[in-house]
Amino acid sequence: MRHFLTLRDYTKEEILEIIDLALAIKKEQKAKRPHPYLAGQTLAMIFEKSSTRTRVSFESGMFQLGGHALFLSNRDIHLGRGEPVKDTARVISSMTDMVMIRTFEHSMLEEFSLYSSVPVINGLSDSYHPVQLIADYMTMVECGRHENPIVAYVGDGNNMTHSWLMLASKLGFDLRVATPEGYACDPLIVEDALNFAKQSGAKISFTNDPKIAVAGATVVTTDTWISMGQEEEKAKRLHDFKGYIVDEDLMALADPYAIFLHCLPAYRGVEVSEAVLEGDQSVIFLEAENRLHGQKGLMVWLDKHR
Ligand code: CP
Ligand code: NVA
Repeated sequence: MRHFLTLRDYTKEEILEIIDLALAIKKEQKAKRPHPYLAGQTLAMIFEKSSTRTRVSFESGMFQLGGHALFLSNRDIHLGRGEPVKDTARVISSMTDMVMIRTFEHSMLEEFSLYSSVPVINGLSDSYHPVQLIADYMTMVECGRHENPIVAYVGDGNNMTHSWLMLASKLGFDLRVATPEGYACDPLIVEDALNFAKQSGAKISFTNDPKIAVAGATVVTTDTWISMGQEEEKAKRLHDFKGYIVDEDLMALADPYAIFLHCLPAYRGVEVSEAVLEGDQSVIFLEAENRLHGQKGLMVWLDKHR
């Protein structure tokens, strides 16, 4: 049985298998062919943070696959009142077929998965957001931007950046990360990614200059400067990230055929300009829709590998 906590645990071949499965299931859905691969199964979804895309995509996805999803917020279950993770894991996994968790500390997911008798999926932790990267790469494939891409990530060295580091280092593509001083990625995750990159041939570089990262890039991406749980740092972050907005001037330095990705929610005029977000190069709503298809592929893959 496999869990899906970070792309660190997955090989290139496995990641591509999940993407292929997701693309195939997407075709079935678009052709309106029923595809009840998880008929009779239940997905428990534990949310300790807010969500629009993750909740709707997992819940709809499980329904479309013939199963059922349970939305469990912190206020609904005893986990939020201090019932131990290891007890919650054993109870919930005894009654369901898969569990998705959105939480703060990544170690909560690790502990849960140790005690869970069913696959556990990371729906975002403070360290990683791997299901988003399945959708992002799928979008690159559909836009024809997956062959030798040069991806530029501009912004905070956060869960999204860490996930891009894992994807690039596993698949072997070029990734340039531009973060302001003081907001670099977790050095342990960087070390890991650089080790994987040695095997895959990925070229990974870091800079404090968004222009250096974006020059000639074929995919440009960013994320909020204020992640969930960092609301109190808002004023300082808005100050420290000055100059990191992805706007028309910055996009003009990228390859003319570059696409723009953003996991959303986006803050217009903060990390990205309205013109870029709504412009021709932006594929953010295809990317968001692919959360549904990507995760359907992932859940079917995890079910096959138990
Ligand atoms: N991108 C993403 O995970 O969105 P939500 O926070 O709305 O789930
Ligand atoms: N980095 C953001 C991603 C939101 C999908 C956060 O953790 O809030």
